[in-house]
Amino acid sequence: MTQSNQPLSIIILSAGKGTRMQSAKPKVLQTLAGKPLLAHVLDTCKDIQADKTIVVYGFGGEQVKTTINDYYRMMPMAKAELSRQTSEDSTSSSTSSESNTDNSACRLGITWVEQAEQLGTGHAVQVTLDELPKTGQSLILYGDVPLVSVETLQNLQTANTQGVSMLTLTVNNPFGMGRIKRDANDNVTAIVEQKDASEAEQAIREVNSGIYCVNNELLHRYLPKLSNDNAQNEYYLTDIVKMAVDDGIMIATAEPTHPFEIDGVNDRKQLAQLERRWQSHLVGELQKHGVQFADPARVDIRGTLTAGQDVFVDVNVVFEGDVTLGDNVYIEAGSVITNSSIGNACHIKPYCVINESIIGAGVDIGPFAHLRPNTELGDNSKVGNFVETKKSTIGKGSKVNHLSYIGDATIGEGVNVGAGTITCNYDGVNKSQTVIGDGAFIGSNSSLVAPVNIGKGATVGAGSTITKDVSDDTLAVARGKQMQKDGWQRPTKK
Ligand code: UD1
Ligand code: CA
Repeated sequence: MTQSNQPLSIIILSAGKGTRMQSAKPKVLQTLAGKPLLAHVLDTCKDIQADKTIVVYGFGGEQVKTTINDYYRMMPMAKAELSRQTSEDSTSSSTSSESNTDNSACRLGITWVEQAEQLGTGHAVQVTLDELPKTGQSLILYGDVPLVSVETLQNLQTANTQGVSMLTLTVNNPFGMGRIKRDANDNVTAIVEQKDASEAEQAIREVNSGIYCVNNELLHRYLPKLSNDNAQNEYYLTDIVKMAVDDGIMIATAEPTHPFEIDGVNDRKQLAQLERRWQSHLVGELQKHGVQFADPARVDIRGTLTAGQDVFVDVNVVFEGDVTLGDNVYIEAGSVITNSSIGNACHIKPYCVINESIIGAGVDIGPFAHLRPNTELGDNSKVGNFVETKKSTIGKGSKVNHLSYIGDATIGEGVNVGAGTITCNYDGVNKSQTVIGDGAFIGSNSSLVAPVNIGKGATVGAGSTITKDVSDDTLAVARGKQMQKDGWQRPTKK
């Protein structure tokens, strides 16, 4: 809702092919920080809580819809939040069109509108008019300008007191952007595109971000009147500014909080540059909170990283999804950590892969450990090199130090699992559980054939293949007895 309780709509222009990307994929599906460009914008919209979100698509239409729908299907939280909009949509929208009958799109709260031919930014907004409420205001955004922030858009909305506000910025190199023309009183009079600009106009350094907040009544009034009489023969959205000025409307402007928020992506080089700008922004925020990065240019945060104080992150660590690090966590080079929480004072040695896992405090992991989903490590436990875990709990102070597979297992506290121990959890059809009691000791190179229980304080002899439960405080040895043949002759060549 707007401040005045008028409905708020969001229009995201995403119909362009993005020829310069040299890709079979539509531009808005290219990824920045591991997420499609358009999903960045949609996530921001989710936090703004508009009453209606319209995405104008064109090139690669079905692919855009499918990819975005799949993306949110795999993100239960985001889906739930966006579906709130849908229920309101279905009661408020009086018109229905083919474009919004897609079920999963509806669940996202997106109204998809096709712009079959890309005749310009003004035309792109024009094709939404059937779907656009007659009252309230609209934020006009771009699927290829991914990093505009909620704060900036709220400022833009607040600035819109007379009907039109726009996001502008004074830059050093304005080439290619629309220029903001102002009169002697500093009031905006028009936007002129690079290709239509006179030499004097080209010298203007205040540029149009292309992002606006406009009253819907004005969009309905001005868009049908656009002409394509210009250097590019396109219907320019920018022309509505001049129309508003002619109607005596004072155009308000706002600035983005961070310059990169208005950066668009047109080619691979710009995409890579924006990625680094974004990464450097995220790193900067974490540095403010006491995180040390060995090299801010050699870390990637693809999602949300929350970290305590005195955390150290060495080079080439990648964080994906939601990752939480406690205080004093020390991460050495080369790990990939996804959707996991790591407790205070953990030490992650080089080259670990940690996915959907919960790690207690004071845990040592790696080097070269692979923690697969639903691994839980208790405080002060250790998982060493070439150990793989999955759907397993390892209790406080327990150690699995070398070359093991621990799957579908519950390991108690103070357990020592010897090198090369394998939980045989899969019989080719079903998965079965291994339970190891507190204080047990599993000798090296043992196979624990699940389902099987090893009692508290039990000892398993090295090299055992354990197929039956082992009672508390007993020794189990299950291996061939050693034999000896005196005077044994090795075979000779025939
Ligand atoms: C536009 C602005 C310019 C501004 C610049 C900021 C106009 C006329 N010019 O120029 O003042 O400085 O953005 O980046 O608006 N799109 C469609 N359908 C179309 C045409 C475009 O959906 O028919 C979408 C594109 O996918 C893209 C966005 O609109 O996401 C901008 O289009 P683009 O052609 O890149 O506009 P610019 O020439 O950069
Ligand atoms: Ca552009």
